[in-house]
Amino acid sequence: MLAAYATAPDPSDPLAALEVGERPEPEAREGWTTVAVRAASLNHHDLFTLRGVGIGADRFPMILGCDAAGVDEAGNEVVVHSVIATPGWRGDETLDPKRTLLSELHQGTMAERVAVPAGNVVPKPAGLSFTEAACLSTAWLTAYRMLFVKSGLKPGDTMLVQGASGGVATALIALGTAAGYRVWATGRSEAKRQAALGLGAHAVYEPGARLPERVDAVFETVGEATWQHSLRALRPGGTVVISGATTGPNPPADLARVFFLQLSVIGSTMGTREDLRGLISFLETTGLRPAIDLELPLAKARDGFAKMHAGDTAGKIVFTL
Ligand SMILES: NC(=O)c1ccc[n+]([C@@H]2O[C@H](COP(=O)([O-])OP(=O)(O)OC[C@H]3O[C@@H](n4cnc5c(N)ncnc54)[C@H](OP(=O)(O)O)[C@@H]3O)[C@@H](O)[C@H]2O)c1
Repeated sequence: MLAAYATAPDPSDPLAALEVGERPEPEAREGWTTVAVRAASLNHHDLFTLRGVGIGADRFPMILGCDAAGVDEAGNEVVVHSVIATPGWRGDETLDPKRTLLSELHQGTMAERVAVPAGNVVPKPAGLSFTEAACLSTAWLTAYRMLFVKSGLKPGDTMLVQGASGGVATALIALGTAAGYRVWATGRSEAKRQAALGLGAHAVYEPGARLPERVDAVFETVGEATWQHSLRALRPGGTVVISGATTGPNPPADLARVFFLQLSVIGSTMGTREDLRGLISFLETTGLRPAIDLELPLAKARDGFAKMHAGDTAGKIVFTL
């Protein structure tokens, strides 16, 4: 079957590790279902996989992709939930220390078919296209959990999103405005800042800019490049929720600011299956839909990877089959 996959880790040139070509069909396993993929979206996770980050060298070649929407063996239209817990795990699957995402241990979603545990699919509402539904399981789910499960923000509070055009950043801006928060965002270019305003952001700033007032919460996925600004942007008692570190995981910690101002630093990763159901319900109720930057046939996946690698995003990049 056709798939986009990583041949071997390449830390310095991730695109050199990308191949679009034939891979074996998924193996049938008891308790698993095979989904015929109709659309799969690209996440920064896929660039990290190509670099060999978060995956053992013995796992290559590996089909990329955490997210998919498609049709399961019973003919149901489904959204794939990417967090695979160990068999028998009970409770919040994101807290399973041995959990993996698709494309870390098991083959990923950028293929004609993907096998997942039967519990890792949720119904796709008819009102969401396959392309829209394929954006939800990683970037949008992560944003949903950061905002509604972890941050403690109330509607009317002010939130700052570091980044304007990425998958998680666009989801945070759109979800935050739809839920009644005052949303500010930083973007690296005027075009990106304008796009964030188009998604509903109330104000936009250059990275590192002095803000007119301190905010209640900051949403971080950028890491080293923005961390100190994030801490400086918070009011006393404020919260930073972090789910990623695209530019590096080891910024200066600024511990004095954390304890003197009694800041909270909260980590967040993906979301549970119930969070995914909550996100889908939120979209159905509000009519909100993911911002799609680019839709390409899977055979042209390389163009989408190159765009994200260049930092030239404006929402989600989706591959269709
Ligand atoms: N923990 C989890 O479960 C989880 C889930 C999803 C994602 N993540 C992580 O979150 C991060 C974002 O993922 P994504 O898929 O949203 O990525 P993406 O679409 O490539 O977006 C990258 C974002 O980073 C921002 N950014 C700011 N400064 C940057 C710089 N110097 N270099 C590169 N980017 C910069 C970009 O801002 P501009 O808009 O200004 O370009 C953009 O908004 C990744 O590190 C990913 O691994 C973690």
